[in-house]
Formats: sequence, C-alpha cells, structure tokens
Amino acid sequence: MGVFCCWEPLSRTSFSVQIAETISVQEATLSINLLLSILYFGNRRRIMAFAFIKTLFLFVSFTGLLLRAHAARTPQARVWSLCKPTTNPVVCFTTILPHVITLRKFNAYTALEIEIETTRELVVNTTSLVNRLLTNPTNSKDLNDSLQICSEQFDNMMDSIKETMTVVALRNAAEARFKFSAVLSYLSACTDEFNNSPIVKEGKDLYDLGGNCLDIMKAIEDRESRRRRGQPMGSPIVGPPPAVLTPCQNSVGPCT
Ligand SMILES: *[C@@H]1O[C@H](CO)[C@@H](O)[C@H](O)[C@H]1NC(C)=O
Ligand SMILES: *[C@@H]1O[C@H](CO)[C@@H](O)[C@H](O)[C@H]1NC(C)=O
Repeated sequence: MGVFCCWEPLSRTSFSVQIAETISVQEATLSINLLLSILYFGNRRRIMAFAFIKTLFLFVSFTGLLLRAHAARTPQARVWSLCKPTTNPVVCFTTILPHVITLRKFNAYTALEIEIETTRELVVNTTSLVNRLLTNPTNSKDLNDSLQICSEQFDNMMDSIKETMTVVALRNAAEARFKFSAVLSYLSACTDEFNNSPIVKEGKDLYDLGGNCLDIMKAIEDRESRRRRGQPMGSPIVGPPPAVLTPCQNSVGPCT
C-alpha cells in the first residue's frame, strides 16, 4: 500500500480514491481479524474459547476471501490488474477507468480500444504542434528538416493506428501488436531528431501510451493462447467434405 504514496504527484485525485476504495475492503478485513484476536486473547476461559476462536477465525478468513473476491470484481480492480504490468500503469489506469466505470461488463479489448484511441488523439495533437512549429520563419534549415521528418512519421503513425483499430475490431490481438509496433518505430524516428523541444515531451507521453497499448495486446495474446492450450486437442477443422465416389454420382435421374 505504501507503493501508492509515490505516485501521488502524478495522479489525479480520482485515481487515489479509486485505489483507496479497492484497498479499504482488505484493510477492513485485516482490522476485524486483529480486533477479534485481541478480544479472545483477553478471555480467561481460554480452553473453551480456543475451539470457538478457530472456528471464528476460519469464518473471518472466509469472509475476507469473499470480500476480496468482491473487490476483485470492481471496475477499478479489473482496470488496475490490467494496467499494473504496463509501461506506465498510472497513465493506463487514468485513461481507461473513466470510460469503463459505467460499463456493465469489463472487457480487455474495450480497454485496449480506449488506450489506442487516446494514443490516436495525442498523435493528432502532436501533429498540429509539429505543423505549428514548421511555420516559424526563424527556424534553421536543420530544424525545418527535422520537423519535416516528424511530420512524415506522424502521418505514418496515423496510418498504422488506423490499421491497428481495424484488426482490434476483429479481435485479433497478435496482428494488432504487429501493426502497432510500427507506431513506436515511427515515433522514435521523429524524437531521435530532437534533444530539447516540446516534441520530446509529447513524444514521451506518446511512448507511454503506445507502450501501454502493446503491453495490453501482449496480455490479451497470452491469455488467449493459455485458453487455447487449455482446450482439448484437435479442434475440428471445417473444410470441404471428403471426395467419396458413389455409384450414382453425376448421374441424372433416380439411382438404380
Ligand atoms: C488533445 O488536445 C485537446 C485540446 O487541447 C485536449 O483536450 C486533449 O486532452 C488532448 N488529447 C490528448 C490525448 O492529450
Ligand atoms: C523554415 O521554414 C519556415 C516556414 O516554412 C520558413 O519561413 C523558413 O525560411 C525556413 N528556414 C530555412 C532556413 O529555410
């Protein structure tokens, strides 16, 4: 829980509240456990109480498990478990949660689509930044050249993002990851041109969002392949029926 302290400056208030809500259930369980232990160690009729404590302890632990299981089903907990291993978990959580909090069913592909859409928006924003910088008459030739390279890379990024969205709509995480990995290559082709520019800052944000997309795609891929391995061998392959010659094949009229 101490881990969350250090993200405070980065996070929005809602983020802390969401996390706090998720944790408080577990903390409450812990407090109840502690309280009960104290109460029963103070009891003089310890021997009689002992069996009771054990039963009660089991009961409390079980309740704790139930509460934890319940906590794991909240949108916050689901989004967090998806985001935790990503490149930038806080960005992942704060971009995805507001869109899924009202959904009845949480789906990793939906979360992925939200993160890709956020990446697309930032590409649009950064493209207009590049184009604005390009119009500055005091630019050196080198700066103009670099900005021109970025402008081209951002066009390419947009194409790759659109292609990715198409395959994500078809629920093909592996193909999506293949297409989307190009986005980060184009991005570094642009940011490598700069040491100190507003583009570097936007580039960092884009790198985080894009990295999150790739991480979520990989997680979906892994989960799907685990699921496939769990299935019985030899899933039926639907192909053309076997070509068996029958006596009356190709004959017109009743077969005799
Ligand atoms: C893009 O710019 C708009 C307008 O400034 C802003 O509201 C939006 O949050 C930006 N999008 C991203 C993903 O940064
Ligand atoms: C860079 O581009 C701007 C805008 O097109 C132009 O005004 C400026 O002269 C260019 N700089 C050089 C050195 O060519």
